[in-house]
Amino acid sequence: MKRDIAQTLNELLSNKFSTIEIEKMIEKPKHVDHGDLAFPCFRFAREFKQSPADIARDLGGAFVCEGVHKVNVVGGYINFYLDIPILAAKVMSDITTQGSHFGEKQVGQGKAVTIDLSSPNIAKPFSMGHLRSTVIGNALANIVEKVGYKSIRINHIGDWGTQFGKLITAYKKWGDEEKVKTSPIVELHKLYVHFHEQAELDPSLNDEARLWFKRLEEGDAEAAKLWEWFREVSLHAFSLVYELMGISFDSFNGEAFYNDKMSAVIDMLERANLLEESDGAMVVRLDEEGLPPCLIKKRDGATLYATRDLAAAYYRYENYSFAKSLYVVGNEQSLHFKQLAAVLKKLDVPWANDLVHIPFGMMLKDGKKMSTRKGKVVLLEEVLAQSVKIAQAAIEEKNPTLAKKDLVAKKVGVGAVLFHDLKVFRQNDVHFSLEDMLRFEGETGPYVQYAHARACSILRKAKMDMQHGWSTTYETFGEEERPLIIQLHAFEDTISEAVKEWDPSKVAKYVVELCQHFNHYYAHVNFLQNANEQEKQQRLTLIYSTTIVIKESLRLLGIDAPEEM
Ligand code: ARG
Repeated sequence: MKRDIAQTLNELLSNKFSTIEIEKMIEKPKHVDHGDLAFPCFRFAREFKQSPADIARDLGGAFVCEGVHKVNVVGGYINFYLDIPILAAKVMSDITTQGSHFGEKQVGQGKAVTIDLSSPNIAKPFSMGHLRSTVIGNALANIVEKVGYKSIRINHIGDWGTQFGKLITAYKKWGDEEKVKTSPIVELHKLYVHFHEQAELDPSLNDEARLWFKRLEEGDAEAAKLWEWFREVSLHAFSLVYELMGISFDSFNGEAFYNDKMSAVIDMLERANLLEESDGAMVVRLDEEGLPPCLIKKRDGATLYATRDLAAAYYRYENYSFAKSLYVVGNEQSLHFKQLAAVLKKLDVPWANDLVHIPFGMMLKDGKKMSTRKGKVVLLEEVLAQSVKIAQAAIEEKNPTLAKKDLVAKKVGVGAVLFHDLKVFRQNDVHFSLEDMLRFEGETGPYVQYAHARACSILRKAKMDMQHGWSTTYETFGEEERPLIIQLHAFEDTISEAVKEWDPSKVAKYVVELCQHFNHYYAHVNFLQNANEQEKQQRLTLIYSTTIVIKESLRLLGIDAPEEM
């Protein structure tokens, strides 16, 4: 519809502008009373030497376009009221023919977008920050695919660094193989915490740890064997969480993968005269950029997190020739990613500007950061398991005869945790509350899933009425259907906005609103009783279209939509 309106406007403006530019200016009015779409005329004031209000009046007065049934001018805005039967026919013909492909675009033209997500640290519990990264990154991957990019999900596992020296030292002193085998993350984390406690009493432990890390970097067999084992058991533990969340990755190349790729980067920095010595360490100065220096090599020759990220950036460009390289990592690493981009710019790589840090806020509980404090570890598996349990109880109460109850409970429980995270603008903090997540009202996963299941159940019951196929005309539609139709029509724009701002919460908010309109419609229109055949067929097509778009929205967010619950 926007395209048609833009074209008509441009014709009235003697085709002086690009229709695409005009289309981009068309917006959704802040208030429903101001119509379905609006066009602000402020930008033309200078060009036409007229006030925006006069331009709006002239353009609005002359505007005629099929599909727009009323035009209203308010100040410098032209507000359009769409013709619901015409819009419904357009939108629903697309949905019924395209199904889950509805809303797809080809703007990405198959170009690659790498997404660095999740990236937990070996031998440490999966933190809430890693959960946010996993969930947001996975949704972004789905969303960029929807607009035609190829997404590459990279789990940049934290499997290298001085902490492995500490871990090896601790394991050799106090470790128990059996215990590590039974619950690797808990046990390894305990050892790590214990190391720190002991090192406060006996600082020589730190030297021992440094030595072990040095051996590891030099390829010592014993160190390598332990490291490999820690990595393997940790990855296995993480994989259980990923499986539960239904998330997979294209690459698990973590920090260690870049061990043999860093010297090339260091050479390049040297050749470009960017490396400077500082206190025995090697750094790249970033004074001009107003940033602290980026540490490349420690005094003892050990490389750092930043060095590995530089090597990883090159590797990704060389292997995937990405159009964009996203890093879904918490706010607290903003400086690191600024330094990373700044160093690459100094190296004159043309793709330095295509690195995008996508930061997000913290997960809070009772107003405090949810952390993995000493001994008291919040394990993600436990959060998910608890959520599934609550969902199980709810289903037992609401629908005890439901088939495949456990499977549905899993979808609802896990979906609740994911949705709770995704509905918040990613930069804001999330307040963790299992109770809130699992409510069946409000902006929750279960609310959306339930609306979907309800719509599916209407369709199941109306099977007989659907034998004539989907409707193609909608002359019986009017104000009752307007909000639902307008919202279905907005799906495509919502996805574009989510891509533009790298923000899945746009989709989460969208689908909540869609469900609200659906529930309202369902409650107010007694739509299958007192309806003639034609009305029934049109309304059922609307319900069917709604199920498609709810399900697809949830899929983009990484959440399943059970048909019954
Ligand atoms: N492992 C890191 C952490 O837990 C996150 C890594 C993010 N990705 C990256 N390429 N630096 O803090």
